[in-house]
Amino acid sequence: MKKQIHLNAFTQCCIGHHSMGQWKHPLDRPLDGYRNVHYWIELARLLEKGCFDSLFLADVHGTYATYRGSRDTAVRHGLQFPGNDPTLIIPAMAAATRHLGFASTFSTTYFPPYHTAKLFSTLDHLTDGRVGWNIVTSYLPDANANFGLGPMMAHDERYERAEEYMAVCYQLWEHSWEAGAMVRDRVNDLLIDPSKVHEINFKGRYFEVPGPHMCEPSRQRTPVLYQAGGSERGVKFAARHAEAVFGVHHSTAACQAAITTLTRALVAEGRRRQDVKYFPGVTVVVAPTDAEARLKLETCRRYASPEGGLALFCGWLGIDLSKLESGKTLKDQRTDAIATCLNMLAAIDPEREWTLEEVGAAFSIGSVFPKIVGSPGMVADELERWLEETDCDGFNLMPVTQPQGFADFVDLVVPELQRRGLLRTHYAGQTLRERHFGVGQQRLDPTHIAHRSLPPWKRRAASSANGPAGRSPTGESVAAK
Ligand SMILES: Cc1cc2nc3c(=O)[nH]c(=O)nc-3n(C[C@H](O)[C@H](O)[C@H](O)COP(=O)(O)O)c2cc1C
Repeated sequence: MKKQIHLNAFTQCCIGHHSMGQWKHPLDRPLDGYRNVHYWIELARLLEKGCFDSLFLADVHGTYATYRGSRDTAVRHGLQFPGNDPTLIIPAMAAATRHLGFASTFSTTYFPPYHTAKLFSTLDHLTDGRVGWNIVTSYLPDANANFGLGPMMAHDERYERAEEYMAVCYQLWEHSWEAGAMVRDRVNDLLIDPSKVHEINFKGRYFEVPGPHMCEPSRQRTPVLYQAGGSERGVKFAARHAEAVFGVHHSTAACQAAITTLTRALVAEGRRRQDVKYFPGVTVVVAPTDAEARLKLETCRRYASPEGGLALFCGWLGIDLSKLESGKTLKDQRTDAIATCLNMLAAIDPEREWTLEEVGAAFSIGSVFPKIVGSPGMVADELERWLEETDCDGFNLMPVTQPQGFADFVDLVVPELQRRGLLRTHYAGQTLRERHFGVGQQRLDPTHIAHRSLPPWKRRAASSANGPAGRSPTGESVAAK
């Protein structure tokens, strides 16, 4: 059997996600749709018709104010601003679908882990196991100020803090409630067995959380864990925690190199390549013929806002390119925001000297994502080429006009992929984790780091069962406390 494609749809609860200016396009509907629950329900039903694994929602908490040292460009062109909370629309979409998964971005920098654990448990209950968490450490400085956190923590320390954050979440999700704690014994008036609900008593460098977890275990317990960090520290974090990684690459060679790096990092953490799905991002513009698709892209270009594209890119870079000294290239720069963006221009074309206008024009359509423009056959050929030339597991799909671009993909490309035996024709299993890893894989893999991150009660139980050296229930060595 051919390798199967996993598809994630990528968008955000805002007007301008990655294609700035499309709000003027007659077919672009987020202008009013992003704040209308029926828009989201319709989109979820469409993606389920197309047998997508999940809808993946981005989120930020500040304005893109790096460009020209002001938020004005970002506000004027609606760069992910205004932006609503992605987690709140998930239950409505879940109620209108049966199979589609929902992955929401949520920042480890702004929300306490106790809150995050409760939120995702609730979502996992309400979706019956179809939720995922895109773990981000965030990059917009004014978001920090909005949360009263002062200056932004340095890039790598944000990841260090996120490590501890994950340990708290794992202890709440996996180790606070034992299986069978919910007794529901009406005869003996016993709802919950208190001996099976445990404090986690977490005390770390950044967090102190006594617990217990507020929520009873949901179908997946831990949501499917996504990550998209491409820096060295980001890859290490992904290798320790992620079950799926999103990447952005402009060639199959670059994509494969990233997968090889990730695989090495996974092995160093005692994990295997198959423990993590890898999804490169693509922006697809498809029409019945290649010529019509090119025309469609040209129409989108007429509505694009290049300055908006530039401001978006500067926000990711954390560098105001309007001030770039002549003769300096991005390679000479250092950033505390998204490190991988620094190499993006050279990755697209190593020889090219970019003007600011060209950067803006290139990134106002589908931002940093590579574009595939053509007929259904051409798009399917190209996706198949990526599958053959890399070890990727599918794609993170982000169209230009929304939701039209998703509808075009579902109507034109999905049947072609299914005809080629590359995409499922029906769903099997219930949870999002099963969607990615196969029927029966509802919970985190027993070898995942979450099963090594034990609270004191479980460490004590493990060491009294196994003697002073202490072995965890999953066979990992655990430090005696
Ligand atoms: C496809 C993709 C989607 C992302 N979505 C978000 C997002 O919604 N919110 C956010 O704060 N960061 C987002 N990021 C940023 C990363 O998750 C990560 O925090 C950032 O890349 C910094 O890490 P790095 O320097 O290790 O690359 C995204 C990155 C990629 C590649």
